[in-house]
Amino acid sequence: MGKIRCGVVGVGNCFAGLYQGLHYYKEHPEKEVIGLMHQDMAGYRTQDIEFVSAFDVASNKVGKTLDEATYAAPNMVDWAKLPKSDVIVRESPILDGVGKYVKDVINPVEENSPEQLREDINSHIKETKTEIIVSYLPVGSQKAAEFWAEICLETGAAFVNCMPVFIASDPDWESRFRKKGIPIIGDDIKGQLGATIVHRVLTRLTQDRGAELDKTYQLNVGGNTDFQNMLERSRLESKKVSKTESVQSQMKKRIPEDNIHIGPSDHVPFLKNTKLCFLYMEGRQWADIPYKIDLKLDVDDKANSAGIVVDAVRAARIALDRNYGGAIESASAYLMKHPPVQMSDSEAKMALNYFIMDREHKTGVKNQ
Ligand SMILES: NC(=O)c1ccc[n+]([C@@H]2O[C@H](COP(=O)([O-])OP(=O)(O)OC[C@H]3O[C@@H](n4cnc5c(N)ncnc54)[C@H](O)[C@@H]3O)[C@@H](O)[C@H]2O)c1
Repeated sequence: MGKIRCGVVGVGNCFAGLYQGLHYYKEHPEKEVIGLMHQDMAGYRTQDIEFVSAFDVASNKVGKTLDEATYAAPNMVDWAKLPKSDVIVRESPILDGVGKYVKDVINPVEENSPEQLREDINSHIKETKTEIIVSYLPVGSQKAAEFWAEICLETGAAFVNCMPVFIASDPDWESRFRKKGIPIIGDDIKGQLGATIVHRVLTRLTQDRGAELDKTYQLNVGGNTDFQNMLERSRLESKKVSKTESVQSQMKKRIPEDNIHIGPSDHVPFLKNTKLCFLYMEGRQWADIPYKIDLKLDVDDKANSAGIVVDAVRAARIALDRNYGGAIESASAYLMKHPPVQMSDSEAKMALNYFIMDREHKTGVKNQ
C-alpha cells in the first residue's frame, strides 16, 4: 500500500514514545504490535509509518536530526536506540505554545516571524511530500494549533490533532476541512488504558447496569513537562472540557457541574513519565443503597497513546486514499476524547471497523 508520510509538530515526550516504539517494531517485525485496533488496517501496518518532517521551537531540538531531538531534554523517553535520521527539525512559530512554567526548560528559539515561517513550512511540507500532520502541541496552544490547521488547509495535508484545542470538533474549522476535501481526526488523543477510557467505561457500566452515578472525580498527577505546563490553570480550559465531556457523554442524564471534577491536578517532578490517576465514583443502587468505587491507575503516560496515534494516522491515510474530506467521525469518536460526535466506545469501534472495510460510513464527506 506504500508508506505513510507524516510530519510531527511538537517533538516532545509523546512523540518520543511513539517514534521509539515505531523503531522498536521495525527492528522486530516478528512481534505483534501491542495497543492497536488491527495489526493490518486496510493494508497498512505500523511499519508503514514514516516521519519525513518535524517542527518544534526548543533551542535544543530545532536544527537537530529527529533522533537527536527525540532524546533532547526535557524529553524523558530513551528506551530504544534510534538510527541516525536524515530529517532535520525545523522552526515552528511559538505563538502561544510555550507557557510560563516551561519557558525556562524549553528555551524557545525565535528567529523568524510567523509569516516568514508559514512560507518555509508550506514549501517544506510539499517538498517532503508530508501527507499527514500529527500535532502534539502543548495544552493551551490555541493559536499555534490554529496555525497548523491553516497549514493543513493550505498544503492539503490531513490533520491528526492529538491535543485539546478544538479543531475537528469545532463546526467552523470542520467545515473548512470538509469544503477543501481534507480529512481531519481529532481532538485530544485517548490513551490505550488511560484515565479517560477507564473513567468512560466505568461510567457506561453504571448506566448499562441501571445504577445512579451521583458524584465523581478524576485527579491526575505526573512529572513531565505536560503536567508542568498544566500548572498554568488558564491554559487548561479546553483540556478540562475535553476530559469532562468524554465522561459526561456516557451518562443518560448529565451529572450536575458541582458533582463532577475531572482534570490534571499537579506536577510531581520525581514521577517523571509515570502518571497516577485517582478516580472516585459514588452513587446509588436498588432502594437508594450507596456504592463507591475508589481506584488508582498507574501508567506510563508516553507509551499510552502511541498505539492510538498509529491507528489515527492509518485512518487518516485511508481517508486520503478514499478521497474523504472533513472530520472522520468514526475514527475521531473511537480514538479521541473530544470528537465532533460522541459515541459509546463499542459503537465507535463498530463505526470505525465499517469505515476501514469501506462499508457504510458515518463519516466525512466524499469529495466529488
Ligand atoms: N500523554 C498522553 O497520552 C496524551 C493524551 C492526550 C493528549 N496528550 C497531549 O499531547 C500533547 C503533547 O504532550 P507531550 O507530553 O508530548 O508534551 P511535551 O511538553 O513533552 O512536548 C511538547 C513539545 O511541543 C513543543 N512546542 C511548544 N510550542 C510549540 C510550537 N508553537 N510549535 C511547535 N512545537 C512547540 C515543545 O518544545 C515540546 O517539544 C499535549 O497537549 C498533551 O496534553 C497527551
